[in-house]
Amino acid sequence: MSSIIRITNVSFAYPSPLPGHGAVPALQGVSLEIESGAFVALIGPVGAGKTTLCLCLNGIVPGMTGGEFAGEVEVMGMRTGEHSAAELARWVGMVFEDAEVQLFNSSVEDEIAFGLEEQGWEPLVIEERIDWALEAVGLQGMRRRNPRQLSGGEQKRLAIATVLAMAPPILVLDEPTAGLDPRGRQEVMQVISRLAKERTATVIMATQDAEMAARFADRVILLDEGRVVDDGTPRAVYGRLAAGRRPAVHIPQMARAAHVLNRRLGRQWDFLTPDEAFQALAPIVLQASSNSLSPPGAGS
Ligand SMILES: Nc1ncnc2c1ncn2[C@@H]1O[C@H](COP(=O)(O)OP(=O)(O)O)[C@@H](O)[C@H]1O
Ligand SMILES: [Mg+2]
Repeated sequence: MSSIIRITNVSFAYPSPLPGHGAVPALQGVSLEIESGAFVALIGPVGAGKTTLCLCLNGIVPGMTGGEFAGEVEVMGMRTGEHSAAELARWVGMVFEDAEVQLFNSSVEDEIAFGLEEQGWEPLVIEERIDWALEAVGLQGMRRRNPRQLSGGEQKRLAIATVLAMAPPILVLDEPTAGLDPRGRQEVMQVISRLAKERTATVIMATQDAEMAARFADRVILLDEGRVVDDGTPRAVYGRLAAGRRPAVHIPQMARAAHVLNRRLGRQWDFLTPDEAFQALAPIVLQASSNSLSPPGAGS
């Protein structure tokens, strides 16, 4: 498999927000290669640089932000510094943390058509793509709704649909479940679950939602203070986080439970999800309860 994203020794600082203050460092010496077809979760505390790294992939950093940039970012063999953010948007679709900034048309269908028209697609193709994208995010039947009147989860799914419709080979999702109520989160998780299964795009997802990262990603990259501090499978990275002390990083509840049980019972469990915990623990629980139901001598 080949690398679709190659980040080489990237350091970046935002321009100073106030005159007389220094630039704000956001990334320091980040080098990463991401394989085509991967589903990568970028995790780390608030301010770690997750959003900034996402914005490097489509050239918004430093193209539109300015600031001090060093190193090189290549997507699909193109150096981002040599292409405009508008050009890169064709290859790197981004769903921003705040879905509302991405939605500015008066109907759901216009919202999806907008990007496709910009790219010069035929009207018939655009119609097909709108249907397909709405189906992919479960918003069929909402074509004429006003995006501003949708729920948070629906808006987020619409923002995902506008990007999916353009079929970018790389899809960047910045905190797709942040700020949603449980229902909205569940709806967005369903869409992401489908992306993870179908693998039509390479997905980079910045998230504090550990359950989601554990469920869908095949690689987890931990950022802290602008540096990559861990990189591996969800099981490996969350296992190390559960065993260490990093209170600022969310980890799956089940990873924490496994760690506590291992410490107290001398086990080696590494489950991450409730289903995996069930698989590991059910035989023991069932055995214990059948023992307690049939006291010695009760006959069977
Ligand atoms: N537009 C900006 N101007 C100045 N500093 C910024 C800007 N955006 C982010 N930062 C700073 O860059 C660092 C990394 O932020 P960010 O990439 O948003 O982290 P994360 O997404 O992990 O929370 C933080 O110190 C943050 O305050
Ligand atoms: Mg962020």
